[in-house]
Amino acid sequence: MTLSSLLLFVAFFVGVFFPLKKCEEQQPPEDKLLVVTIATRETDGFKRFLRSAKYFNYTVKVLGQGHKWKSDGYMETPGGGQKVRLLKTALEELKIQDKIILFIDSYDVLFASGPKELLKKFHQAGHKVVFSSESLIWPDRHLEDKHPHVTEGNRFLNSGGFIGYLPNIKEMVAEWKGEDSDSDQLFFTKIYIDSTKRKSINITLDARCRLFQNLHGALDEVVLKFEDERVRARNLLYDTFPVIIHGNGPTKLQINYLGNYIPNTWTFETGCTACHEDLRPLTALKENDYPLVLIGIFIQQPTPFVTVFFERLLKLQYPKNRLKLFIYNQEACHMHHVSSFLQDYGSLYRDFRFIESEENMDTAASRNLAFDTCRKDKDCDYFFSVDIEVVIMNKNTLNILIEQNLSIVAPMVTRAGQLRSNFWGALSADGYYARSEDYVEIVQGRRVGVWNVPYVSSVYLIKASLLRTELTDYKLFNSHNVDPDMAYCHTIRNKGIFMHLTNMHSFGHILSTENYQTTHLHNDLWQIFENPQDWRDRYIHENYTHIIKDKLIETPCPDVYWFPVFSDIACNHLVEEMEYFGKWSGGRNVDPRIQGGYENVPTVDIHMDQINFEKEWHKFLLEYIAPITEKLYPGYYTKAQFDLAFVVRYKPDEQPSLKPHHDASTFTINIALNQLGLDYQGGGCRFLRYDCSVQAPRKGWALMHPGRLTHYHEGLPTTTGIRYIAVSFVDP
Ligand SMILES: *[C@@H]1O[C@H](CO)[C@@H](O)[C@H](O)[C@H]1NC(C)=O
Ligand SMILES: *[C@@H]1O[C@H](CO)[C@@H](O)[C@H](O)[C@H]1NC(C)=O
Ligand SMILES: *[C@@H]1O[C@H](CO)[C@@H](O)[C@H](O)[C@H]1NC(C)=O
Ligand SMILES: *[C@@H]1O[C@H](CO)[C@@H](O)[C@H](O)[C@H]1NC(C)=O
Repeated sequence: MTLSSLLLFVAFFVGVFFPLKKCEEQQPPEDKLLVVTIATRETDGFKRFLRSAKYFNYTVKVLGQGHKWKSDGYMETPGGGQKVRLLKTALEELKIQDKIILFIDSYDVLFASGPKELLKKFHQAGHKVVFSSESLIWPDRHLEDKHPHVTEGNRFLNSGGFIGYLPNIKEMVAEWKGEDSDSDQLFFTKIYIDSTKRKSINITLDARCRLFQNLHGALDEVVLKFEDERVRARNLLYDTFPVIIHGNGPTKLQINYLGNYIPNTWTFETGCTACHEDLRPLTALKENDYPLVLIGIFIQQPTPFVTVFFERLLKLQYPKNRLKLFIYNQEACHMHHVSSFLQDYGSLYRDFRFIESEENMDTAASRNLAFDTCRKDKDCDYFFSVDIEVVIMNKNTLNILIEQNLSIVAPMVTRAGQLRSNFWGALSADGYYARSEDYVEIVQGRRVGVWNVPYVSSVYLIKASLLRTELTDYKLFNSHNVDPDMAYCHTIRNKGIFMHLTNMHSFGHILSTENYQTTHLHNDLWQIFENPQDWRDRYIHENYTHIIKDKLIETPCPDVYWFPVFSDIACNHLVEEMEYFGKWSGGRNVDPRIQGGYENVPTVDIHMDQINFEKEWHKFLLEYIAPITEKLYPGYYTKAQFDLAFVVRYKPDEQPSLKPHHDASTFTINIALNQLGLDYQGGGCRFLRYDCSVQAPRKGWALMHPGRLTHYHEGLPTTTGIRYIAVSFVDP
């Protein structure tokens, strides 16, 4: 046989045994399809359902709006007879007989594809009514044996979704005489397992999930599949792409997860498409028309940079007369931070309330009270909850969150350089943290969007209308066994309210509150290890980065370099810390603090190790001085070792100056900690070999010079006031 005759033979064979499509009954046209669903309330899940239906141009008829739901609660429980009753009535009223009805739940359902594919698959199923299927039998396990066997796929019926010709469905629901509280699933199951009825109504199950995917009992079977700018759910077990996804039973979080992508809510090509819908823009509003926000600030542990928190709060770009503050402080060490902020700026806000630590209120109680304050205040439009350890860098945070127009939305904040954040992507079986497949991508900003997640904390915005309708329970944060925020999120989830997280912008980060000592005056100075980024923002001169880049460096004397390193606040804090400690040396030659016990050129000073600051100081030299040293003295590498680093105090009536001397160092760093003219007169440093002086020291600027041999120098007299410098003998 030649190749061409073989092909001819094959073609003939195929033609005989697989008649061509045109001989078959035509697939029903899309305008015959009517989606019917029941929704007594417009839940977040219902809105998501409608959005997916609209995306594919389904025609949807919603029954039960405004009716009171008879079943107990949001989670699926036996009950649902009301659904059958409403469907029965609605179908009797339908004028056109020539319809295909898709009846589905809506709070936990999504369309993954359009009517065309749905009808095609329905048609291919070869029956008049097709029910969704599942592997678990419910509610009556005794009926298991009565179910027909299936060759492949799920054996049991699920009533959360079915599709069929109107007359057949009418015939089916005509039998309904049950109570609203009876089980709809049991009703349909009994019809299905009755072989006579099954055949006469012509019912089958979508056993391989070609049309319907029920997630309960099938979580491991279903994965997201990204392909050609489309996202689908794929059933791995049957290799199918279901058209409808149903988060039945305890799989609400999985449908929420899938709903972050399906239908094309987020794709690799387009990014987030749903994030720009239904916004509530503020920009056109006059200041007085801005929504009123109660900002709840919670201080629950000693926390670094509390003053910075309030500085940032002040900088939020939002009309202050539309903001009220509720501040709860549990820590005595932060009392003065809060009260001085309120004293200086409290009156700028529309109102403020301060709950102090002495009032003996625990965390849960304070949060309950804060929520209730907004709930009861008829002017309150939003509650913005912020824990003190959140660093809000983005001044538009509040505006951005309000514009998203969501029930609950949190800006993503992470621990700098870590995967820890203020949201969870998934929950473990016992309700604690679990990592979702997309968690790392979201945290690292490789997937950007607005995400429906099971847990948010630390900072979030919630609509006050929600507090007055679905969240009226005063004790939302109370729990016997879990943290208040876990208890709260648990309630939110159970009510079917969506919590969203946005990483569409960069908002800020969360401080580490670990190892925070409160034994000093300015404890933040010690944060160089724990919160290096915040330490830098606070304490390093704003033009430090220009030193090398823009040559912001001066050479006032040969091999003497002068550059900015400390912020004003760093200088103040260091001086105040030393004065607070107060044990200034007498400026005598005998000095038990140093090796050998004798100082040739003594100053009135306090060593860094006396205030337990030597490790932090070394870190500072290593991070901020060593790189500059290496640039300016090429070929010299330093580990910034030192035996002596100290703050010197020059005072006319104490020790005004220092006689000429060499330093016990390879190079010396001398940072001016206060301001000539303002804080003192005189002062400065003279290098004798070059007869060159630096007489107008700048606050926060460092002098760097070689210590031995060439740079014999003296401290010039301070004539009035007090002058402070921080000196380090590096690489002795
Ligand atoms: C839905 O209908 C609109 C307007 O008729 C059309 O532009 C759009 O492409 C349709 N969407 C789908 C998924 O068919
Ligand atoms: C069910 O309906 C299909 C057509 O949709 C038909 O081919 C089939 O024979 C019917 N089955 C029964 C048992 O009536
Ligand atoms: C905000 O969302 C609500 C509820 O989803 C919607 O009704 C409203 O139109 C949206 N826009 C504004 C400006 O509130
Ligand atoms: C930083 O440099 C800019 C531009 O030269 C200057 O205006 C500003 O005052 C400097 N900042 C400080 C703290 O000196």
